[in-house]
Amino acid sequence: MRGVFITLEGADGCGKSTQASLIADALEASGREVVRLREPGGTPISEKVRALLLDPANDEMVPECELMLYEASRAQLTRQVIEPALARGAVVLCDRYYDSTYAYQAGGRALDDALVRRANLLGSCGVVPDRTLVFDLEPAVAYARATAGGADRMEAEGLAFQERVRDAYLRLAAEEPSRVRVIDASGERDEVAARALAALEGLL
Ligand code: TYD
Repeated sequence: MRGVFITLEGADGCGKSTQASLIADALEASGREVVRLREPGGTPISEKVRALLLDPANDEMVPECELMLYEASRAQLTRQVIEPALARGAVVLCDRYYDSTYAYQAGGRALDDALVRRANLLGSCGVVPDRTLVFDLEPAVAYARATAGGADRMEAEGLAFQERVRDAYLRLAAEEPSRVRVIDASGERDEVAARALAALEGLL
């Protein structure tokens, strides 16, 4: 039996991490093993790559370097953690996966679309999520929330960058409607969680 692979996506400040906890609790209540991960990170190597990626001191990093570091972190996590978890039948809940690379590096950074898709194929080792939830919030609201306590290297790119990220997510959802579902992330957290869980119905 293969497990179930669920990914959570959205621009910075969309409330995804809060939702990840609520969704994980609900999935655990079903009695399945739930493996909670976040990208970039999740293995000792991937966490080191994460530190490189988010350090505001690395402001000279070029988009091509950035792309390959996200993919490197992902390949390690996929082979070391995600594939074994899916093979033993677990539910894998990952906060960001390759759609983030599409949204941020193709959308935000304007790297070539086809190139980013090829890189995603390598970084994910061909592992495709069964369902992807995109938490969608008005970019100005999300951005103010994300940067209230200071900005990491990606958040420091500003609001116009986050708007391009959001547009890229909406394009993906239009392209792959059965996998990628847009969740209205405005309103109370429990309301948003209910919308998210409704979008996972029938998966487990
Ligand atoms: P993080 O603090 O984990 O943000 P969040 O809580 O919003 O997920 O930082 C991850 C940052 O890296 C975030 O700004 C999105 C960005 N990112 C990319 O640009 N490309 C990617 O492939 C991934 C996985 C993340």
